Amino acid sequence: QLPHEFNEPVTLAIIGGTGLYKLDSLTPVAHLTVSTPWGFPSSPITISRTDDGFPIAFLARHGQHHQYLPSDVPSQANIAALKKLGVKAIVAFSAVGSLQQHIKPRDFVIPNQVIDRTKGIRKSTFFEKGFVAHVGFGEPFDLKLNKLIADSCADVLEGENVKLHSRHTLKDDVTLICMEGPAFSTRAESRLYRSWGGSVINMSCLPEAKLAKEAEISYQMICMSTDYDAWNETEEPVTVETVVGNLKANSANAHRVAVKLIEVLEPKLKSGEIGEDLKHSMKFSVSTADS
Ligand code: ADE
Repeated sequence: QLPHEFNEPVTLAIIGGTGLYKLDSLTPVAHLTVSTPWGFPSSPITISRTDDGFPIAFLARHGQHHQYLPSDVPSQANIAALKKLGVKAIVAFSAVGSLQQHIKPRDFVIPNQVIDRTKGIRKSTFFEKGFVAHVGFGEPFDLKLNKLIADSCADVLEGENVKLHSRHTLKDDVTLICMEGPAFSTRAESRLYRSWGGSVINMSCLPEAKLAKEAEISYQMICMSTDYDAWNETEEPVTVETVVGNLKANSANAHRVAVKLIEVLEPKLKSGEIGEDLKHSMKFSVSTADS
């Protein structure tokens, strides 16, 4: 039984997606049930420590028993709970379908752009009930985190049979399409997304990334490709079985990436090099009658 309290600020959080429900490599020291004005997060938050005592929060996006459909994930509560703990940077894992031939199942992808194909049914802002604010979302991810993560993943995956795709390797935008689901795309939709320049597709980046921006938390998603989406008629059509099979096969790599990132991010969070860039940014996003 772990304690249900933790009284130090926790600056780094990892959000696990399908197939990543805990961080095996770290020793858990507390298990927190965090209440927020937006309700409870998808799962209790596990706090673990590195060997030198640095705390890390872990949250399972779909719940510990994978009980939340992408449309039902309580993202406001998830981000608000992490903010309440003191989190300044979030690294979020997600399974994705590939929209490009060169992005093979099991490859890692670090996107830097997003196209919103959710259907407007997810609560996607903290600014409701009379508060009017418009957050800048031209860069949906934190570019410093993006580079650090891309470099760290490249180190970890060197020599493995999987590739890393980022704007640094591709010298071009890596665009994630976030769709509503839960059904996967039709072939026509999948082709449309390719024509828009989409690289990969999932159901989980939004509104998570938007809410993190509103909460002034640096955020980057790490995608693990699990299938070629419906556009690719020469490959097996996407099924939950292929998605989960490829994730399981890749879980050792995902854990190694997480361990490396924690090692790299710990000193940068401590020095303030990471996690401070959005501080006070929302002050200039609030719209009032006088502004
Ligand atoms: N997650 C994993 N594979 C996916 C796909 N093809 N479409 C949407 N979300 C996914």
